[in-house]
Amino acid sequence: MHSPAPYPALRLRRLRQADWVRRLVRETVLTPNDLIWSMVVHEGEGRVPVAAMPGVERLSVREAAGAAREARRLGIPAIAIFPHIDGARKDALGGAAADPEGVIARAVKAMKDAAPEVGIMCDVALDPFTDHGHDGVIENGRILNEATIERLVEQGLMQAAAGCDILAPSDMMDGRVGALRAALEAAGFTDTMIMSYAAKYASAFYGPYREAIGSAKLGAASPDHPADKATYQMDPGNTEEALREVALDLAEGADMVMVKPGLPYLDIVRRVVETFAVPTFAFQVSGEYAMIAAAGANGWIDYDRAVLESLVAFKRAGCAGVITYFAPKAAQLLGA
Ligand code: PBG
Repeated sequence: MHSPAPYPALRLRRLRQADWVRRLVRETVLTPNDLIWSMVVHEGEGRVPVAAMPGVERLSVREAAGAAREARRLGIPAIAIFPHIDGARKDALGGAAADPEGVIARAVKAMKDAAPEVGIMCDVALDPFTDHGHDGVIENGRILNEATIERLVEQGLMQAAAGCDILAPSDMMDGRVGALRAALEAAGFTDTMIMSYAAKYASAFYGPYREAIGSAKLGAASPDHPADKATYQMDPGNTEEALREVALDLAEGADMVMVKPGLPYLDIVRRVVETFAVPTFAFQVSGEYAMIAAAGANGWIDYDRAVLESLVAFKRAGCAGVITYFAPKAAQLLGA
């Protein structure tokens, strides 16, 4: 960098004096192209509000197809769907996860029929389907890595067969990206993309998501079940480990990587982008949504401005895009 002229030759406020010049020198611009719409689908009819996430509703398959058309109209490139299923169908192994007639398969098909130009991303994880709420198969109080991967591969193949464009494994088992990639290649799904939740932290910010998808309260089911996800999700104190996770997932065949949660982990995003130079995404998770929505609803912050400011921060940090529940709101604010 050149050495700057001293004040008063240099007055940095000159370039901030009017809207036109601020627009002219702006380095980072958010567009609807940067958004992946995070959406919950349910087995019932209509739309059901999620109390902990004001403005977010669970959508029926039919409503989800309508939302895919709305995404197309708003210029939002992709939608990530998450399932809410009836508690009666949950079991210890997450047996419903790979159901080819389940709500995820039906939603993917309906959404691709309604708006084939919109990419659909599916979470590869067992927690919406297990009665204990963990992302893995449990034996003697421990989450089994390989037994879980077997289930994830079945789930991922089902999603690919339904027409899902991007598989997004969010479970944090070791080796799952490689297993998914090999299974996709063997089954002829050579174009199916993988966006791995590569650096996913054991976070309090996933709280409202439990209500959204109706997953079990961890630790409540049985003393045999670990009380939290700390044996598979990352410790919030770690950075070097995030780079190892990303390196591993890329070596195993991930096309894109994700850091999660979002705003509290922008330092991790920055290091991943600078180290690997691959498409890197961040997930602005349910708790981040809830905080902005709650403060906005109380008039404590300017909601619209906070939404856009939070999203441009991801781009400024180097993200290719953001998975966010704000996607339709943000696209509207951006004039789509
Ligand atoms: C499932 C999964 C979670 C989220 C996305 N996929 C919860 C978790 O890992 O505990 C969180 C999404 C959000 O909070 O918005 N593995």
